[in-house]
Amino acid sequence: MQTTKTVDLGDPDLYTTLDRHARWREYAAEDAMVWSEPGSSPGGFWSVFSHRACAAVLGPSAPFTSEYGMMIGFDRDHPDTSGGQMMVVSEQDQHRKLRKLVGPLLSRAAARKLSDRVRTEVRGVLDRVLDGEVCDVAAEIGPRIPAAVVCEILGVPAEDQDMLIDLTNHAFGGEDELFDGMTPRQAHTEILVYFDELISARRANPGDDLVSTLLSDGELSIDDVVLNCDNVLIGGNETTRHAITGAVHAFATVPGLLAQVRDGDVDVDPVVDEVLRWTSPAMHVLRVTTGDVTVNGRDLEAGTPVVAWLPAANRDPAVFDDPDTFRPGRKPNRHITFGHGMHHCLGSALARIELAVVLREVAERVSRVELENEPAWLRAVVVQGYRELPVRFTGR
Ligand code: HEM
Repeated sequence: MQTTKTVDLGDPDLYTTLDRHARWREYAAEDAMVWSEPGSSPGGFWSVFSHRACAAVLGPSAPFTSEYGMMIGFDRDHPDTSGGQMMVVSEQDQHRKLRKLVGPLLSRAAARKLSDRVRTEVRGVLDRVLDGEVCDVAAEIGPRIPAAVVCEILGVPAEDQDMLIDLTNHAFGGEDELFDGMTPRQAHTEILVYFDELISARRANPGDDLVSTLLSDGELSIDDVVLNCDNVLIGGNETTRHAITGAVHAFATVPGLLAQVRDGDVDVDPVVDEVLRWTSPAMHVLRVTTGDVTVNGRDLEAGTPVVAWLPAANRDPAVFDDPDTFRPGRKPNRHITFGHGMHHCLGSALARIELAVVLREVAERVSRVELENEPAWLRAVVVQGYRELPVRFTGR
């Protein structure tokens, strides 16, 4: 059945409580198609929720493009200015070229090489929080690890990493508090200025990092290089931090999970995938139709924005039994947390390794994770994430 409802799904206030899951479940079960009037987005947009409909919109041969932008707010008349330049909002030749250049730096082999760095970060964080006061995982654990990994990929020199990690955490923390007198937007601008400096340094002295790799192409403009460093920075940070926080949330709330992981009663890889499905940090992706197309029985003209809600698809009862329950060994687990089709997340191997290391290290060092309070959720539409997750860790 395809239903049409009208509600502004781009309103971030809709996502600060767990009611969001009930709404998504209803829409996914009905295979609903919802129209959002102009409001959060200047021209309005359609939304789909079921696993089938989201996969169809994002699929490799679907008549849709990302080039006008991939988030609510953009459309053909109000395009993202990075369109055609930044990987996630480019198509065809530019997209292929960028994936080919950047892919090896984020591959499984590259991710494996970074796992020692991840382990060192996780151990450092655990040393600070074990047997101590209440720890806000969303602030103290989630952010540090992905920011450190992205610094390694970008080739940020050791002496600048703490500064860039702080800026990154401020830019993508989801809160508007001032930090060193800066708003999140200003912190992001500082990062882009830093990229300019890094580009000059790598031009004079190339290495095997992302900046040098993008420069080595010879055809990308400096703007292209900055934008694609930013794509990896944003892609690697905004999402992974919430998946890592969610892994600790699962340890605190899923009976027996900590012991199962520690004793090897469950493989870590399926637990990682269940964390990814359950947390589903990328909340939506937007596409614009490139021709006339029928979606869920509705005819759409070229130039129509359509949003796929990934957390809704990841709890679609038609695909996942008992979808709200965290099942450590869930199989199959065909979640689309990393998207689907041509733009499937290029950092997925890295995100999986980060999560696997966190799960193993926490299980090794911690005997108990207790929730001090229910989590507080971000007021956001792009990312489904934790504003606060206060827990107490007891060491082994
Ligand atoms: C693309 C989610 C981690 C880099 C995407 C997309 C999603 C996603 C849904 C597709 C966007 C679209 O179709 O428009 C996630 C989640 C992560 C994660 C949930 C963690 C749990 C990472 C990491 C990196 C990264 C660690 C790099 C360090 C990228 C890049 C793209 C991308 C470069 C663009 C790919 C393309 O356009 O071909 N990610 N991501 N992501 N992600 Fe991730």
